[in-house]
Amino acid sequence: MTIETYEKAFLALGGATLTAVLLVLLYTSVGIDIHLPTRVAEVDPATVRTTPPFDQPGVRQTGPRQYEAVMLGQAWTFLPQEIRVPVGAEVTFTATSPDVIHGFFIAGTRVNMMLIPGQVSRQTYTFRRRGEYALICHEYCGLGHQGMIGRVIVE
Ligand code: CUA
Repeated sequence: MTIETYEKAFLALGGATLTAVLLVLLYTSVGIDIHLPTRVAEVDPATVRTTPPFDQPGVRQTGPRQYEAVMLGQAWTFLPQEIRVPVGAEVTFTATSPDVIHGFFIAGTRVNMMLIPGQVSRQTYTFRRRGEYALICHEYCGLGHQGMIGRVIVE
């Protein structure tokens, strides 16, 4: 084989890979509707602590098996630091940050958000298994980042 043949083969391989990746992206975003969690509302980070619903962080029941967990991620703790829901509960997490960017990841689930000052993040998850789930900040947010851990207790 000549050098030109190799070059053409590599170009074809590159083109095919690119096309395949774009098709997968198109399929996941349009076909099965997978998106990054986007902001659902805006809130002034300077006054968020006195703005409903963030003036009263915590869990409230919104339906027979539905709950809303309003939470703040702040340097370097979650408010509230622990929430309790019954097994089978469908929990909608509504959260934001009053200071810097934090992460909001519940280990063992697909709840994975970024808390961005000024933006409200929201994600819903049904807890089908009993147990204690760690709520972890997975965005580096300063000196106390590694200690920014909360708990979700499903009982
Ligand atoms: Cu908050 Cu890292």
